[in-house]
Parts: sequence; structure tokens; C-alpha cells
Amino acid sequence: MTAAPTPRVARFAELSADQLRGGLREALALYVTAMDYPKGTAEQRAPMWLAHMLRAGWRCVAAYDDDGAMAGIAYGYRGAPGQWWHEQVRRGVTERRGPDVADAWMADYFELTELHVRPDTQGRGTGAELVRLLLSGAANRNVLLSTPEGPSRAWRLYRRLGFDDVLREYQFAGDPRPFGVLGRSLPLD
Ligand SMILES: CC(C)(COP(=O)(O)OP(=O)(O)OC[C@H]1O[C@@H](n2cnc3c(N)ncnc32)[C@H](O)[C@@H]1OP(=O)(O)O)[C@@H](O)C(=O)NCCC(=O)NCCS
Repeated sequence: MTAAPTPRVARFAELSADQLRGGLREALALYVTAMDYPKGTAEQRAPMWLAHMLRAGWRCVAAYDDDGAMAGIAYGYRGAPGQWWHEQVRRGVTERRGPDVADAWMADYFELTELHVRPDTQGRGTGAELVRLLLSGAANRNVLLSTPEGPSRAWRLYRRLGFDDVLREYQFAGDPRPFGVLGRSLPLD
């Protein structure tokens, strides 16, 4: 018996908020599969993704396979005071590294909020291309993201793309997992 062929990513596209709203069910299913989250997570996350689309500087790119199915998704927006993630990270960086470091990273940054590639399509450079496309249109000084502490494929990707440690072993309110907050200056090389 031979293994099923790996689907080929045929196309990358920037999505408008309307386009992502139209494909939200598929995008959230991809996210839940990639993260191996329990059933029901998609319904719980939908309002948050819809709210994020309204934020200043929101951008989204997606990858599609030969059959037109979504194979990857990435989005983010301009980070700003008052946003939950911004306040959590600001508090952590200020406490551990001081307000000047927090200012340097957070005065003007793009939050890379979500990045997911369907498991049967991973390991072929799709994630890297999604990040490159997403960030090529971000007019911010820095990009920041958080990801569960590794080692993981996500960590290898972020390191390859030149992301440095901003905070390690950081705990966000309400989530017992330790996270790394990573950042780098823009544009990408
Ligand atoms: C993290 C994630 C988005 C990376 O997606 P991906 O498409 O597999 O990642 P890449 O684009 O970096 O490709 C990775 C591998 O492809 C290999 N590769 C093969 N052909 C390649 C090519 N033409 N170009 C670049 N890389 C290629 C790379 O060497 C790399 O190998 P490695 O992972 O062993 O280091 C994906 O693994 C994922 O969705 N994970 C689960 C969800 C998650 O963790 N998201 C991030 C949360 S913050």
C-alpha cells in the first residue's frame, strides 16, 4: 500500500475580511486540526476571529491546494494598548525587562496572531511563505507573536525567519501553558 500523495499548494492569496468571513468555517476547522484542539474550539473562537478582522492594520493570507481547499492561513493586525494580548505582553516585558524594552518592541508592531498549515501540507515551506506574504504588507517597525514553548516546527520556522526572544516561559492569564513571545524588526530580510 502506498501513502496518500501530499496535496500541493497551488496558490496563495490575500483575503479581505469579507472573504475570510465567507470561509470562516473552513479556516477555523484548519486551525483546530493544526493545533489539535478539542471539538467545539472552532465555535468558541469564531467571535474572536470576527472581532480581530475589525482591528486597524488587519491582514490575512491563505494557501489553497490543487482542489481549492484551504491549506494554510495566517493573519494579524497592528498591536495597540487596550488589546488583551498587548496588555499581557506589555506587563510581562515591563516586569522582566523594564519599560524601555517594552517601548522599543511595542510602540509600533504587527501582531502575528494566527499561523496554521493543514497537517497533510506541512513541511514544504508553506508556513514560511504565508509569514513572508503577510509581513510584506505590514508597515510596522516590528512583528511580535506568542507560541507555546517548543521544541516544535513553529519554533524552527520562527528561528529561521530571524525571530528573537522577547519573553520566555511566559504565562498568559487563564492558560497554564508556558509561552515564548518572539519578535523581530521589519521588513524581513
Ligand atoms: C508552524 C506551522 C505553521 C509551519 O508550517 P509549515 O508549512 O510546516 O512550515 P515551513 O514553511 O517552515 O516548512 C517547514 C519544513 O519544511 C521544510 N521544507 C521543505 N521544502 C521546503 C521549501 N521548498 N521551502 C522551505 N521549507 C521547506 C523545511 O526544511 C522545514 O523543515 P522543519 O520543519 O523540519 O524545520 C505548521 O507546522 C503548523 O500549522 N503547526 C501547528 C500550528 C502551530 O503550531 N501554529 C503556530 C502557532 S503560534
